[in-house]
Amino acid sequence: MAIPQGIDIAYDDVGMGLPVVFLHGFPHNRTLWAPQLGALLSRARCIAPDLRGFGDSEIRGPYTMDRYADDIIAVMDALQIERAVIAGLSMGGYIAFALWRRHRDRVRALILSDTRPGADTDDGMAKRRQLIELARAKGSGAVADAQMAGMIGRTTRDRHTDIADAIHQMMTVAPVEGVIGALEAMIARPDSTPTLATIDVPTLIIVGEEDALTPPKEARAMHERIAGSRLEILAGAGHVSNVERPAAFNHVVSEFLGVLTYA
Ligand code: MLT
Repeated sequence: MAIPQGIDIAYDDVGMGLPVVFLHGFPHNRTLWAPQLGALLSRARCIAPDLRGFGDSEIRGPYTMDRYADDIIAVMDALQIERAVIAGLSMGGYIAFALWRRHRDRVRALILSDTRPGADTDDGMAKRRQLIELARAKGSGAVADAQMAGMIGRTTRDRHTDIADAIHQMMTVAPVEGVIGALEAMIARPDSTPTLATIDVPTLIIVGEEDALTPPKEARAMHERIAGSRLEILAGAGHVSNVERPAAFNHVVSEFLGVLTYA
């Protein structure tokens, strides 16, 4: 536990070497990254925080992408980490964009996984407002049910029900206040498309081929706009590609970290 900015942020910190900070998506928690921490700890220092309002972190607003990003910097300060690779999945990617805008000198490289740069459309905002009402009325379990369809790919749904169940359970235990706060933060987030052209650190983009929420076409568009970026599309994976195809995901991350370490 750290107490940056007077708020308790829980995190895992395992391994040695190049620091990599893993940012989970919505409505997940840091256990999303268990398949990466277990496999990558021999080659990197892996830090996985719970965003405020999720997991074991304190449930306290304000909830904004900028505030989530500042919390991550406070954790890095507490751990005396000057620069880290920032790896964000989905909402974690939205936070990575905010972190880049506000603290780019702290970013060694970026891993953008199953995410998109654009702000919400009007339709997207309306759906989030419905989810906020659902969370208030019926709790996080109902939000988990609603999110499940887009969260995993058809291969996982058909062949790996254990993974589907684990992701559903992770979303079910999310604190309602954190869920609502994150939905409001996503509604309010700016368009990060103009940010892409400013990214001048090594960037790895990963997407599940079956990702319906942030599909490969989003990843290809990011790849075109981030100079020198590398794009990896993982077959048989949906939106949580790091959990659905952990070995493939870890392989591309490992290769990327290897190049950074020895560059
Ligand atoms: C996520 O996985 O973080 C969410 O699906 C992102 C979103 O709803 O935009």
